[in-house]
Amino acid sequence: MKKTSTKKTPKAAGRKPQAAKKDVLLERADKVVKKDNGTLLKIFGPSYKVSAILNEAMNEARAAETGLPVAKVLEVLKVGDRWCIRREWIEGETLADVMENDRKHLAKYLKQFVAIQCEIFSKTSERMGNLADKLDKQISASPLPKETRYDLHMKLQSFPRGKALCHGDFNPTNVIITPKGDWRVIDWSHVRLGDPLADVARTYLLFWLSGHIAAAEKYMALACEALKAKLPDVQKWLPIVAAAESSRDQSPKNHELLLHWASVVDIE
Ligand SMILES: Nc1ncnc2c1ncn2[C@@H]1O[C@H](COP(=O)(O)OP(=O)(O)O)[C@@H](O)[C@H]1O
Ligand SMILES: [Mg+2]
Repeated sequence: MKKTSTKKTPKAAGRKPQAAKKDVLLERADKVVKKDNGTLLKIFGPSYKVSAILNEAMNEARAAETGLPVAKVLEVLKVGDRWCIRREWIEGETLADVMENDRKHLAKYLKQFVAIQCEIFSKTSERMGNLADKLDKQISASPLPKETRYDLHMKLQSFPRGKALCHGDFNPTNVIITPKGDWRVIDWSHVRLGDPLADVARTYLLFWLSGHIAAAEKYMALACEALKAKLPDVQKWLPIVAAAESSRDQSPKNHELLLHWASVVDIE
């Protein structure tokens, strides 16, 4: 009979949390993203509505059905009392890390980033909601004065609705570059059909909010060039996307900037 050593137990117990910590990719108040048995597990806290989690999984499945390279959803499950989404694990580095570690070639990576976004715009999907409807609801929920919200609703109504697939949270942390140099786009919870220029305005805003101002400006120039769009036609979406974002992001760091942009209704 094998002897079981009682001495080993405390050591193993000491190692376990460290190994688990290494696999945690992101930890927020109400969300944990971690590597789990060669897959990706996104664990949602109680503030998430079950319908929002199921919707996120549904959006990811619909994005995969367009034929774009994504991390496929494997299952939606409950671990204890927590709802989770399990995805395929994609080996590689996020484009955000690639950019950070090789700042000299920022322009090259931004060009690739824009090319990926344009490939997404070239797709559409049946039975996916429209971005304008989502923006309209978010404007209603924003902390802006009633008059400003009214102006923004009116403005939005006069803009094209569009049918292009818009990721909705397109930023370099949501693009993974594999060791072979291929790309995958992840995190499709906000995807909708809409006008590509609205999605470009939101990505520009996300660069700003993350403090990457030079990258924001360079990105905007490259996106306009790739889409043959005029800068004012993208800028006109900024108050709309800023107002929409202010309904979600109420962090003291970003709040003022968002409200300022949202209030510049006549940016042209
Ligand atoms: N399928 C995946 N394979 C490898 N890493 C992933 C995968 N999905 C997410 N990640 C990593 O986890 C991070 C957070 O995941 P994400 O789904 O984007 O969560 P959030 O909604 O909080 O942004 C990503 O930026 C990426 O670094
Ligand atoms: Mg993400």
